[in-house]
Amino acid sequence: MSLLEVKDLSVRFDTLDGRVNAVNGVSFNLDAGETLGIVGESGSGKTQSVFALMGLLARNGHASGSIKYDGAEILNLSEAELNKIRAEKISMIFQDPMTSLNPYMRVSKQLTEVLIHHKGLSRKDALAESIHMLDAVRIPQAAKRVHLYPHEFSGGMRQRIVIAMSLLCRPKLLIADEPTTALDVTVQAQIMALLSDLQKEFGTAIILITHDLGVIAGSSDNMLVMYGGRVMEYGNIEDIFAHPAHPYTMGLLHAIPRIDHQGTELVTIPGNPPNMLRLPKGCPFEPRCCYAVKDCKSIMPELTAQQNNRSRACHSSVESLL
Ligand SMILES: Nc1ncnc2c1ncn2[C@@H]1O[C@H](COP(=O)(O)OP(=O)(O)OP(=O)(O)O)[C@@H](O)[C@H]1O
Ligand SMILES: [Mg+2]
Repeated sequence: MSLLEVKDLSVRFDTLDGRVNAVNGVSFNLDAGETLGIVGESGSGKTQSVFALMGLLARNGHASGSIKYDGAEILNLSEAELNKIRAEKISMIFQDPMTSLNPYMRVSKQLTEVLIHHKGLSRKDALAESIHMLDAVRIPQAAKRVHLYPHEFSGGMRQRIVIAMSLLCRPKLLIADEPTTALDVTVQAQIMALLSDLQKEFGTAIILITHDLGVIAGSSDNMLVMYGGRVMEYGNIEDIFAHPAHPYTMGLLHAIPRIDHQGTELVTIPGNPPNMLRLPKGCPFEPRCCYAVKDCKSIMPELTAQQNNRSRACHSSVESLL
């Protein structure tokens, strides 16, 4: 049994303009201690997939399918049940650290409250554990600085505090949604290295969402490529980087700037992502795909298993891509 089993997850939003099909039949498994990278262009359904998992969908959203954590169904649980799972079993890091930190409260208070509330620790023990965690995320002079306010830290340090907070209750699963996008490249690399060290230390499984393939290249085991709310390709990250089996993945890989190809123009995928209010009957990538065949316009290809535990949703012949 995997730590997380997501089956046929769909998310719809009812709006005045009609129904937005944000996530359409997404399935994947995640084992304890593993990292899954989810990539895809803006609007492809990455965040709403994990919001469904955390019970964080907006009021006009509705999720269907199944999400099992440690074998138990967690999709559409009550708020009280979800509150127990959040922080204690599954925690989430958002793109902007300030969404998770209260600017008017000292860091010490924000961290200790979590431990007092969820773990029943005394104030003294909670403070000791909070300082220990700030040490673990390498905040210098943690015992002193724990009493500062969030704005007294730099952006990178604030993100470290958020990571410390998310790991306080030792969740088995950490979801990191674009955890480094707001940071400069050097700090980005430090945060990713830190996450990977902490993962080894605590054995946490991670879902890492990013539109930067460079970020997941060194930090994930498996990779899920999303487009138009669907899974286009899934598999071991090194295998996919070496041999992408979906035209969209190929496009994404070509769009990574390469240090050894200086001066050459950055390749982008021509065209625009689909309108999620009016998704086509067939493959959503078809209008932008140069490998499209006759069926692509009318029939959505199923996600089909290939060799090596990989799968892809594409009608074109594999040979043309590998
Ligand atoms: N409350 C809502 N009502 C209607 N549509 C919504 C709502 N929330 C999200 N959506 C739509 O759901 C789709 C998927 O959004 P999602 O946030 O998952 O994208 P994403 O892949 O995370 O993109 P990004 O990389 O920009 O964060 C988008 O088309 C978005 O406009
Ligand atoms: Mg998002």
